[in-house]
Amino acid sequence: MTSPKRRIRKAVFPVAGLGTRFLPATKAMPKEMLTVVDRPVIQHVVDEARAAGIEHFIFITGRNKGVIEDHFDSMFELEQTLAQRGKKNELELLARDLPAPGQTSFTRQQAPLGLGHAVWCARDIVGDEPFALLLPDMLHHAAKPCLADMIEAYEAHGGNHVAVSPVPMDQTHLYGIVGVEDDKAKVSRIKSMVEKPPRGTAPSNLHITGRYILQPEIFALLGKQATGAGGEIQLTDSMIALAECDGQEFHAVRFDGQIHDCGSKIGFLMANIAYALARDDLAPGLKAELKKLI
Ligand code: G1P
Repeated sequence: MTSPKRRIRKAVFPVAGLGTRFLPATKAMPKEMLTVVDRPVIQHVVDEARAAGIEHFIFITGRNKGVIEDHFDSMFELEQTLAQRGKKNELELLARDLPAPGQTSFTRQQAPLGLGHAVWCARDIVGDEPFALLLPDMLHHAAKPCLADMIEAYEAHGGNHVAVSPVPMDQTHLYGIVGVEDDKAKVSRIKSMVEKPPRGTAPSNLHITGRYILQPEIFALLGKQATGAGGEIQLTDSMIALAECDGQEFHAVRFDGQIHDCGSKIGFLMANIAYALARDDLAPGLKAELKKLI
Protein backbone atom coordinates (compact mmCIF):
# COMPACT_ATOMS: atom_id res chain seq x y z
CA MET A 1 0.00 0.00 0.00
CA THR A 2 1.14 3.55 -0.72
CA SER A 3 1.76 5.64 2.41
CA PRO A 4 -0.72 8.45 3.15
CA LYS A 5 0.18 11.83 1.60
CA ARG A 6 2.46 14.10 3.63
CA ARG A 7 3.91 17.43 2.55
CA ILE A 8 7.32 17.41 0.83
CA ARG A 9 9.47 19.66 3.03
CA LYS A 10 12.98 18.27 2.62
CA ALA A 11 15.26 17.80 -0.37
CA VAL A 12 18.45 15.75 -0.62
CA PHE A 13 21.35 16.80 -2.85
CA PRO A 14 24.10 14.18 -3.36
CA VAL A 15 27.27 16.25 -3.90
CA ALA A 16 30.03 13.80 -2.97
CA GLY A 17 31.19 12.93 -6.53
CA LEU A 18 34.84 13.52 -7.40
CA GLY A 19 34.26 15.33 -10.69
CA THR A 20 37.18 13.61 -12.43
CA ARG A 21 35.77 14.54 -15.86
CA PHE A 22 36.52 18.20 -15.10
CA LEU A 23 40.10 17.90 -13.88
CA PRO A 24 42.10 20.01 -13.33
CA ALA A 25 39.25 22.50 -12.68
CA THR A 26 37.91 20.22 -9.93
CA LYS A 27 41.23 19.40 -8.26
CA ALA A 28 40.65 21.81 -5.37
CA MET A 29 37.10 22.95 -6.14
CA PRO A 30 33.95 20.79 -6.07
CA LYS A 31 32.37 20.29 -9.51
CA GLU A 32 29.08 21.53 -8.03
CA MET A 33 30.69 24.96 -7.55
CA LEU A 34 31.53 25.42 -11.25
CA THR A 35 29.51 28.38 -12.44
CA VAL A 36 26.67 28.43 -14.93
CA VAL A 37 26.66 32.13 -15.86
CA ASP A 38 27.09 33.67 -12.37
CA ARG A 39 25.66 31.02 -10.05
CA PRO A 40 27.27 27.73 -9.04
CA VAL A 41 25.60 24.64 -10.53
CA ILE A 42 24.43 23.59 -7.05
CA GLN A 43 22.81 27.00 -6.48
CA HIS A 44 20.68 26.55 -9.62
CA VAL A 45 19.45 23.20 -8.27
CA VAL A 46 18.75 24.61 -4.81
CA ASP A 47 16.87 27.46 -6.55
CA GLU A 48 14.66 24.85 -8.25
CA ALA A 49 13.92 23.15 -4.92
CA ARG A 50 13.19 26.44 -3.16
CA ALA A 51 10.86 27.58 -5.92
CA ALA A 52 8.97 24.29 -5.42
CA GLY A 53 8.48 25.06 -1.72
CA ILE A 54 11.29 22.98 -0.14
CA GLU A 55 12.20 24.19 3.36
CA HIS A 56 15.16 22.01 4.34
CA PHE A 57 18.20 21.33 2.15
CA ILE A 58 20.26 18.22 2.91
CA PHE A 59 23.67 17.91 1.25
CA ILE A 60 25.49 14.57 1.07
CA THR A 61 29.06 15.75 0.81
CA GLY A 62 32.54 14.26 0.95
CA ARG A 63 36.14 15.33 1.43
CA ASN A 64 37.04 18.60 -0.34
CA LYS A 65 33.42 19.79 -0.40
CA GLY A 66 33.58 22.22 2.54
CA VAL A 67 33.22 25.22 0.24
CA ILE A 68 29.63 24.14 -0.56
CA GLU A 69 28.79 24.60 3.13
CA ASP A 70 30.49 28.02 3.08
CA HIS A 71 28.50 28.99 0.00
CA PHE A 72 25.19 28.41 1.80
CA ASP A 73 26.31 30.34 4.90
CA SER A 74 26.45 34.07 5.49
CA MET A 75 29.88 35.69 5.06
CA PHE A 76 30.20 38.43 7.60
CA GLU A 77 33.40 40.10 6.29
CA LEU A 78 32.09 40.26 2.72
CA GLU A 79 28.71 41.61 3.81
CA GLN A 80 30.34 44.24 6.00
CA THR A 81 32.61 45.37 3.17
CA LEU A 82 29.69 45.55 0.72
CA ALA A 83 27.69 47.57 3.27
CA GLN A 84 30.58 50.00 3.81
CA ARG A 85 30.85 50.50 0.06
CA GLY A 86 27.10 51.03 -0.34
CA LYS A 87 26.70 47.98 -2.61
CA LYS A 88 22.98 47.58 -1.92
CA ASN A 89 22.13 45.37 -4.93
CA GLU A 90 24.91 42.87 -4.19
CA LEU A 91 23.87 42.71 -0.52
CA GLU A 92 20.26 42.08 -1.51
CA LEU A 93 21.34 39.35 -3.93
CA LEU A 94 23.28 37.54 -1.21
CA ALA A 95 20.44 37.95 1.32
CA ARG A 96 17.88 36.56 -1.16
CA ASP A 97 19.86 33.36 -1.72
CA LEU A 98 20.81 32.74 1.91
CA PRO A 99 18.92 29.85 3.53
CA ALA A 100 17.49 30.70 6.97
CA PRO A 101 19.44 29.40 9.99
CA GLY A 102 18.73 25.68 10.47
CA GLN A 103 17.45 25.18 6.91
CA THR A 104 20.55 23.29 5.75
CA SER A 105 22.14 20.01 6.85
CA PHE A 106 25.40 18.45 5.72
CA THR A 107 26.63 14.88 6.15
CA ARG A 108 29.51 13.03 4.50
CA GLN A 109 29.22 9.91 2.37
CA GLN A 110 32.73 8.77 3.48
CA ALA A 111 33.16 6.21 0.64
CA PRO A 112 32.09 6.40 -3.04
CA LEU A 113 29.76 3.38 -3.01
CA GLY A 114 27.11 4.72 -5.39
CA LEU A 115 24.03 6.95 -5.55
CA GLY A 116 21.94 4.53 -3.46
CA HIS A 117 24.48 4.67 -0.66
CA ALA A 118 24.66 8.49 -0.87
CA VAL A 119 20.88 8.75 -0.46
CA TRP A 120 20.94 6.24 2.44
CA CYS A 121 23.36 8.60 4.26
CA ALA A 122 20.44 11.08 4.55
CA ARG A 123 18.14 8.64 6.40
CA ASP A 124 18.39 10.17 9.89
CA ILE A 125 18.15 13.76 8.66
CA VAL A 126 15.12 13.01 6.46
CA GLY A 127 13.44 10.83 9.10
CA ASP A 128 10.02 9.29 8.53
CA GLU A 129 8.61 11.54 5.80
CA PRO A 130 8.60 11.61 1.98
CA PHE A 131 11.33 13.75 0.48
CA ALA A 132 12.64 15.15 -2.79
CA LEU A 133 15.96 14.10 -4.30
CA LEU A 134 17.73 16.26 -6.88
CA LEU A 135 20.90 15.16 -8.69
CA PRO A 136 22.90 18.36 -9.07
CA ASP A 137 24.67 17.45 -12.32
CA MET A 138 21.37 17.60 -14.15
CA LEU A 139 20.08 21.16 -14.64
CA HIS A 140 16.37 21.21 -15.52
CA HIS A 141 15.73 24.48 -17.35
CA ALA A 142 12.07 25.47 -17.70
CA ALA A 143 9.70 28.33 -16.88
CA LYS A 144 8.09 26.15 -14.21
CA PRO A 145 10.55 24.22 -12.01
CA CYS A 146 10.55 20.47 -12.67
CA LEU A 147 10.21 19.73 -8.94
CA ALA A 148 7.11 21.96 -8.72
CA ASP A 149 5.45 19.82 -11.42
CA MET A 150 6.40 16.70 -9.49
CA ILE A 151 5.03 17.97 -6.19
CA GLU A 152 1.74 18.73 -7.96
CA ALA A 153 1.68 15.17 -9.30
CA TYR A 154 2.52 13.85 -5.83
CA GLU A 155 -0.31 15.87 -4.28
CA ALA A 156 -2.71 14.35 -6.81
CA HIS A 157 -1.52 10.73 -6.68
CA GLY A 158 0.67 10.24 -3.56
CA GLY A 159 3.36 7.54 -3.68
CA ASN A 160 6.71 7.93 -5.42
CA HIS A 161 7.56 10.01 -8.49
CA VAL A 162 10.44 10.29 -10.93
CA ALA A 163 10.91 12.89 -13.65
CA VAL A 164 11.48 11.37 -17.08
CA SER A 165 12.22 12.52 -20.60
CA PRO A 166 12.96 10.69 -23.87
CA VAL A 167 16.52 9.94 -25.01
CA PRO A 168 17.65 8.37 -28.30
CA MET A 169 17.36 4.53 -28.05
CA ASP A 170 21.14 4.16 -28.49
CA GLN A 171 21.69 6.08 -25.22
CA THR A 172 19.34 4.14 -22.93
CA HIS A 173 22.23 2.07 -21.49
CA LEU A 174 23.59 5.24 -19.83
CA TYR A 175 20.57 5.90 -17.59
CA GLY A 176 17.82 4.52 -15.40
CA ILE A 177 14.94 3.70 -17.79
CA VAL A 178 11.23 3.30 -17.00
CA GLY A 179 8.38 1.58 -18.80
CA VAL A 180 5.04 3.40 -18.32
CA GLU A 181 1.34 2.69 -18.83
CA ASP A 182 0.83 5.72 -21.11
CA ASP A 183 3.90 7.28 -22.68
CA LYS A 184 1.95 10.30 -23.98
CA ALA A 185 0.57 11.36 -20.57
CA LYS A 186 2.20 14.09 -18.42
CA VAL A 187 1.91 11.74 -15.41
CA SER A 188 1.76 7.99 -15.89
CA ARG A 189 2.04 4.96 -13.66
CA ILE A 190 5.39 3.16 -13.97
CA LYS A 191 5.24 -0.52 -14.89
CA SER A 192 8.96 -1.32 -14.88
CA MET A 193 12.31 0.27 -14.02
CA VAL A 194 15.86 -0.76 -14.83
CA GLU A 195 19.22 0.86 -14.15
CA LYS A 196 21.51 1.11 -17.19
CA PRO A 197 19.95 -1.69 -19.24
CA PRO A 198 22.29 -3.46 -21.69
CA ARG A 199 21.86 -2.13 -25.24
CA GLY A 200 18.72 -3.36 -26.94
CA THR A 201 16.94 -4.38 -23.72
CA ALA A 202 15.41 -1.08 -22.48
CA PRO A 203 11.63 -1.16 -21.86
CA SER A 204 11.27 2.33 -23.44
CA ASN A 205 13.35 5.41 -24.22
CA LEU A 206 12.16 7.33 -21.13
CA HIS A 207 15.13 8.04 -18.90
CA ILE A 208 15.15 9.05 -15.24
CA THR A 209 16.38 12.63 -15.35
CA GLY A 210 17.56 13.01 -11.74
CA ARG A 211 14.50 14.37 -9.91
CA TYR A 212 12.64 12.12 -7.48
CA ILE A 213 9.98 12.17 -4.77
CA LEU A 214 10.47 9.14 -2.56
CA GLN A 215 8.74 7.61 0.43
CA PRO A 216 10.91 7.06 3.53
CA GLU A 217 10.55 3.24 3.31
CA ILE A 218 13.27 3.46 0.61
CA PHE A 219 15.91 3.86 3.35
CA ALA A 220 15.46 0.38 4.88
CA LEU A 221 15.81 -1.10 1.37
CA LEU A 222 18.88 1.00 0.58
CA GLY A 223 20.46 -0.19 3.84
CA LYS A 224 20.49 -3.78 2.60
CA GLN A 225 20.83 -3.12 -1.14
CA ALA A 226 23.41 -5.31 -2.94
CA THR A 227 25.62 -3.67 -5.54
CA GLY A 228 24.17 -3.43 -9.06
CA ALA A 229 25.18 -1.82 -12.37
CA GLY A 230 28.80 -0.63 -12.37
CA GLY A 231 29.47 -2.40 -9.03
CA GLU A 232 27.69 0.43 -7.17
CA ILE A 233 24.75 0.52 -4.77
CA GLN A 234 22.06 1.73 -7.15
CA LEU A 235 19.06 3.79 -6.05
CA THR A 236 16.98 2.38 -8.93
CA ASP A 237 17.41 -1.17 -7.59
CA SER A 238 15.91 -0.15 -4.22
CA MET A 239 13.10 1.70 -6.03
CA ILE A 240 12.31 -1.56 -7.85
CA ALA A 241 12.23 -3.37 -4.48
CA LEU A 242 9.96 -0.66 -3.02
CA ALA A 243 7.53 -1.17 -5.93
CA GLU A 244 7.72 -4.96 -6.13
CA CYS A 245 8.14 -6.04 -2.48
CA ASP A 246 6.42 -3.17 -0.62
CA GLY A 247 3.79 -2.69 -3.34
CA GLN A 248 4.33 1.09 -3.50
CA GLU A 249 3.27 3.03 -6.58
CA PHE A 250 5.71 4.90 -8.80
CA HIS A 251 4.67 7.58 -11.29
CA ALA A 252 6.67 9.08 -14.14
CA VAL A 253 6.31 12.85 -14.56
CA ARG A 254 7.38 13.98 -18.02
CA PHE A 255 9.70 16.96 -18.03
CA ASP A 256 9.32 19.03 -21.19
CA GLY A 257 12.00 21.67 -20.63
CA GLN A 258 15.71 21.50 -21.45
CA ILE A 259 18.04 19.21 -19.50
CA HIS A 260 21.73 20.07 -19.32
CA ASP A 261 24.03 17.37 -17.99
CA CYS A 262 26.68 19.46 -16.25
CA GLY A 263 28.67 16.29 -15.57
CA SER A 264 29.73 16.38 -19.24
CA LYS A 265 31.76 19.17 -20.82
CA ILE A 266 29.39 19.79 -23.71
CA GLY A 267 26.37 19.73 -21.36
CA PHE A 268 28.07 22.20 -19.03
CA LEU A 269 28.99 24.57 -21.87
CA MET A 270 25.47 24.35 -23.29
CA ALA A 271 24.01 25.12 -19.86
CA ASN A 272 26.05 28.31 -19.74
CA ILE A 273 24.87 29.36 -23.18
CA ALA A 274 21.20 28.43 -22.56
CA TYR A 275 21.00 30.15 -19.16
CA ALA A 276 22.71 33.26 -20.52
CA LEU A 277 20.43 33.36 -23.58
CA ALA A 278 17.43 33.26 -21.20
CA ARG A 279 18.60 36.51 -19.54
CA ASP A 280 17.63 39.90 -20.92
CA ASP A 281 20.84 41.50 -19.64
CA LEU A 282 23.08 38.98 -21.45
CA ALA A 283 21.21 37.54 -24.46
CA PRO A 284 21.71 40.36 -27.02
CA GLY A 285 25.45 40.73 -26.35
CA LEU A 286 26.05 36.98 -26.21
CA LYS A 287 24.17 36.35 -29.48
CA ALA A 288 26.26 38.98 -31.26
CA GLU A 289 29.52 37.49 -29.93
CA LEU A 290 28.50 33.90 -30.75
CA LYS A 291 27.70 34.90 -34.33
CA LYS A 292 31.18 36.41 -34.69
CA LEU A 293 32.80 33.28 -33.21
CA ILE A 294 30.96 30.77 -35.37
C1 G1P B 1 21.97 8.32 -12.02
C2 G1P B 1 20.78 7.36 -11.84
C3 G1P B 1 20.11 7.11 -13.18
C4 G1P B 1 19.69 8.41 -13.80
C5 G1P B 1 20.90 9.36 -13.92
C6 G1P B 1 20.48 10.74 -14.39
O1 G1P B 1 22.96 7.68 -12.79
O2 G1P B 1 21.27 6.16 -11.27
O3 G1P B 1 18.99 6.27 -12.98
O4 G1P B 1 19.13 8.19 -15.08
O5 G1P B 1 21.55 9.52 -12.64
O6 G1P B 1 21.62 11.52 -14.57
P1 G1P B 1 24.48 8.25 -12.86
O7 G1P B 1 24.43 9.42 -13.80
O8 G1P B 1 24.85 8.65 -11.47
O9 G1P B 1 25.29 7.13 -13.40
